[in-house]
Amino acid sequence: METKGKILVTGGAGYIGSHAVVELFEAGYEPVIVDNFVNSKETALKGIAAITQQEFPCYRIDCTDKQALQDVFRKEQDITGVIHFAAYKAVGESVKEPLKYYHNNVGSLITLLQVMEEFGVNNLVFSSSCTVYGIPDTLPVTEETPVKKANSPYGNTKQICEDILTDLANSGSSQVKTIALRYFNPIGAHSSAQIGELPLGVPNNLVPFITQTAIGIREKLTVFGNDYDTPDGSNIRDYIHVVDLAKAHVVAIDRLIQGKAKAIEMFNIGTGRGNTVLEVVNTFEKVTGQKLNYEIGPRRLGDVPAIYADVTKSTQELGFKTELGLEEALSSAWQWEVNLKNSL
Ligand code: UD1
Repeated sequence: METKGKILVTGGAGYIGSHAVVELFEAGYEPVIVDNFVNSKETALKGIAAITQQEFPCYRIDCTDKQALQDVFRKEQDITGVIHFAAYKAVGESVKEPLKYYHNNVGSLITLLQVMEEFGVNNLVFSSSCTVYGIPDTLPVTEETPVKKANSPYGNTKQICEDILTDLANSGSSQVKTIALRYFNPIGAHSSAQIGELPLGVPNNLVPFITQTAIGIREKLTVFGNDYDTPDGSNIRDYIHVVDLAKAHVVAIDRLIQGKAKAIEMFNIGTGRGNTVLEVVNTFEKVTGQKLNYEIGPRRLGDVPAIYADVTKSTQELGFKTELGLEEALSSAWQWEVNLKNSL
C-alpha cells in the first residue's frame, strides 16, 4: 500500500501518542511505535488495532538506549519523520526525583537526535508544554510570551529540550528541522472509547480524577483552591480535546515533509479558551448526568493561577484549528471510563 511515509512515534502507546497513531494512519501515514511501557499498557495497542483494523510495528525499547534505537532505524530503513512523545510528565514526582526526569526527558531527546542525524531522518515534532511560560504576566500567552524560570524539574526538561533544539537549528550543521508543539491541557478520549488516558495509580490530572470519582474508584475530588483571582476563584486552563491535539501532529508532520517549516518553530496548541476547574466540574455533571462528589481544598503547590493560549500563530501559520469542545471532551472521557470498567 502506498503511504505518505513512515513516521516513528516514540511513546506511541501513551495517552497522546496512541491518539496520534490513529490520526496519522487515517491521514495516510504509516506509524511505527516505540514505547518502553513504563507509563502505558499493551491494551493501548489493542485499542489502536480495534479502531484502525491494522497492526503497526511496535518496538519495546527505551529511547535513552542508543543501540536499540539504531536497530529500529536500521530495521525500518525509510523513516520519514519522528514524533517524540516519550517522556515522564508528573510534575510532583519530578520534584522528588529530578535525575530520573533529566535523564529520561533530556537524555532521550539527545539520543534520538543523534540517531536521526546518523540515519539522515530530518523531520521532528517535539512534545513541548505550556509549562514553559511559567506564571505568565499577560494572557492569553503567545509564542512570544517570555519563557519563565521553570516551576519544576519536569517543566525545566521541556525548556532544556526546546533550547537543545534551538541550538541545533542555529548550529547550521544539522539538517534536522523541528516543530515543537506547546500543548495546553489535553483531555478526553477517542470517540470509539477504545483508547484514552490510562493513569497508573492515583491520577494527578483533573479529568481522570473526575471520571474515577464519578465511577466510584475515588471518593471525592478536591478542587485545589477557590481563592484565586479568577471569576469563580478556581484555576483557569485551556483544555484541548486529545483528538484535536493528535491532529495537530499530523498537520505539523505534513508541514515538515512538504518542506514548509523553518529549522525550528514553536506553536501553541490549545483552544484559545480558558475554563475554570469549577466550570469543568459543572460541565462534566451536565453532559454526563453524573453528580460529582467534590470539595474545595487548599491550593496545590506550584499551580499556575491562569493560563490559556493565543492560537493566532498556530491558526495562521500551521493551519491548525480545534474542532471539538469541552463538552465533547468530557463526555468522551466519561465513555472511556465506563468502557474501562466494563472491560474489567
Ligand atoms: C501540569 C502542567 C503541564 C503538564 C501536566 C502533566 C503547568 C502549567 N502545567 O498541568 O505542563 O503537562 O501538568 O501532568 O505546569 N486540579 C484539581 N484537583 C485535582 C487535580 C487537578 O483541582 O485533583 C486542578 C489543578 O489545580 C489545575 C487543573 O485542575 O488548576 C488542571 O490540573 P492538571 O490536570 O494536574 O494539569 P496542570 O497542572 O494544569
